[in-house]
Amino acid sequence: MLTYYTATTLDGFLADPEDSLDWLLRQPHDEDGPFGFDAFMAGVGAVVMGSTTYEWVLAHEGGNWPYSLPAWVMTSRNPALVDGADIRFASGDVRPVHAAMTAAAGGRRLWLVGGGDLAGQFAEAGLLDEVVVSIAPVTLGAGRPLLPRRLDLQLVEAGVNGAFVGARYRVTGPLLEDRS
Ligand SMILES: NC(=O)c1ccc[n+]([C@@H]2O[C@H](COP(=O)([O-])OP(=O)(O)OC[C@H]3O[C@@H](n4cnc5c(N)ncnc54)[C@H](OP(=O)(O)O)[C@@H]3O)[C@@H](O)[C@H]2O)c1
Repeated sequence: MLTYYTATTLDGFLADPEDSLDWLLRQPHDEDGPFGFDAFMAGVGAVVMGSTTYEWVLAHEGGNWPYSLPAWVMTSRNPALVDGADIRFASGDVRPVHAAMTAAAGGRRLWLVGGGDLAGQFAEAGLLDEVVVSIAPVTLGAGRPLLPRRLDLQLVEAGVNGAFVGARYRVTGPLLEDRS
């Protein structure tokens, strides 16, 4: 089970054009409330992200790697590796990455941290099961898109946490109008 769990602006951006998340980090929320991070993370066995997100996490954490779980970073480059971090760099087809993550996760769910195009790559491969979003009461007009693909999803659950509306969707597949 691969879950794209993320926060987004109301107009569907993960970050502003300069990769800032200042608009997100100032929002009030309850860590233990609906759609909270700790409860989600407790069920995760492996994580995957693109290189921009990786570099943002490292910069935000003062060069430290916050996850003890096996992690995959998609990149065509050779970014700096953090000492002692359980990270593999991978590129190209996401299907072998999904298989390796599943093998490493010990039956727990896989977390797709971001970004949006990477989520789209997994969706195109039929490997994105769920999208869980916390929608911040902010619009940016431009930035890094949440999920730049044409997909149909089914709303499974919704709730409120502080300033956020949380929603869990099951990915049903390509947009109905695009299916032949
Ligand atoms: N709102 C939130 O909660 C949240 C969550 C996650 C991320 N974010 C932020 O949102 C932004 C996302 O950035 P982004 O949209 O640029 O996406 P990203 O997925 O973090 O990074 C994109 C980069 O990853 C590499 N990549 C992706 N797929 C690849 C593949 N199949 N093979 C090889 N390389 C691949 C490419 O870079 P290279 O090949 O050049 O390395 C690509 O330019 C970041 O600022 C991040 O911090 C916010």
